Amino acid sequence: MKLTVVGCGYLGATHAACMAELGHDVLGMDSDMDKVATLNSGKAPFFERDLDDLLAKHTATGRLKFTASYAEAAHFADLHFIGVGTPQTPGEDTYDLSHLYSAVRQLAPRLTGPAVVAVKSTVPVGTAPRVRDLLHEFAPAGDRVEVAWNPEFLRESFAIEDTLRPDRLVLGFEAEHTWAEIMLRECFAKIIESGTPTIVTDWATAELAKGAANSFLATKISFINAMAEICEKSDADVHQLAEILGHDARIGRRGLRPGLGFGGGCLPKDLRGFITRAATLGAAAATGILHEADAVNTRRRDAVVDLAREQLAREQLDGDLAGKRISVWGAAFKPNTDDIRDSPALAVAQKLHELGATVTVTDPKALDNARKLHPELDFIDDPIAAVQDADLLLHLTEWAEFGHIDPHRLAHRPTQTLVIDGRGTLNPDTWRQAGWTYRALGRP
Ligand code: UDX
Repeated sequence: MKLTVVGCGYLGATHAACMAELGHDVLGMDSDMDKVATLNSGKAPFFERDLDDLLAKHTATGRLKFTASYAEAAHFADLHFIGVGTPQTPGEDTYDLSHLYSAVRQLAPRLTGPAVVAVKSTVPVGTAPRVRDLLHEFAPAGDRVEVAWNPEFLRESFAIEDTLRPDRLVLGFEAEHTWAEIMLRECFAKIIESGTPTIVTDWATAELAKGAANSFLATKISFINAMAEICEKSDADVHQLAEILGHDARIGRRGLRPGLGFGGGCLPKDLRGFITRAATLGAAAATGILHEADAVNTRRRDAVVDLAREQLAREQLDGDLAGKRISVWGAAFKPNTDDIRDSPALAVAQKLHELGATVTVTDPKALDNARKLHPELDFIDDPIAAVQDADLLLHLTEWAEFGHIDPHRLAHRPTQTLVIDGRGTLNPDTWRQAGWTYRALGRP
């Protein structure tokens, strides 16, 4: 099939490359010319595992191209995916849908024949009819343009895997047996035929699916982090508790890792957007648990700062963070990405800086992005050098690289050998044997 993908960020660029991998002829469209040039050279403008290889492979075969022209995109195909960002509106707990509506408004006047517009972006429930109305109003093809809702559940750092072998496929349509359904079933034929559960539903259910899934995932993480708060008061170990709970098949181990909590471009914003939309629909009572999930998550960031203060007070009889040198391992919101959106690690680093500490951050991939957003912090490439002369080391993003560092190599350098493990993935015994005072959230 020929198809386009409008919006080439983490979601759209991955989708475009994966659709080419499925055998389709794909034109990615993004209004950022620099991004288009980078993608056309077979490289991703961000770090996502294996994506460069897939882009290089399919830009070389000619099956994958990128453009900044809506006119070119409209003429290229009659199936158009939209994967533009729907970030959180600054200062509000709502989705900013301006990129989505702008993409629809620019594509619509160029749709002269029958077309299917399949939206992948995450939105509040009730957006699909508005997209349909805009398309019918502004497209010369009028109501021969059909809308499909196809939420995307990919995780960054597993984006290709999750796109080509998803846990499930959700296809939302306005009515049964539409042309849009035929088109999407054809587009995803290889994925469907490989046995992927495929749920065909209405627009509203498809729209809710993503917000509900992310709200559940966020709640699961916050549940175990709430248990960490109880562990901290009772000298219990939340990591062992998570293991015990996780063996119950009804609970499951995945997504139950305690620590500094969730960040990123999806979970925090989807949780808040979902709560706000439910309230406007008159279902606020149903979201109490989600408010609490958000609150627990924020408290984890404060807990690291409190633990830092407490530990410094214990070691130096001085809990004042002002003037302390603190080394932070991790800037990305999770390992194996350069994405720093709502990064818990950087939120903690910034807070410590505000409290007067000198904070030096290191990360294998995310330093360029972090530098742009946080000029007030210091940055260094080498995690070992980062610890030199530090009063305290904070481990805040669990990159495998950090886990492999032998603490004996660091022990002679810092004036105080204090480490706080915000993710609980360093080996406490190894660090203690190397002479470090090891503390972790949710651990005695
Ligand atoms: C998430 C959803 O998983 C995905 O389905 C959706 O499409 C987009 O949002 P992503 O943001 O890439 O994906 O990352 P995910 O791996 O879910 O992690 C989100 C955050 O939660 C990270 O900050 C991570 O460190 C944290 N997390 C995750 C935990 O603290 N504990 C866990 O057990 C899992």
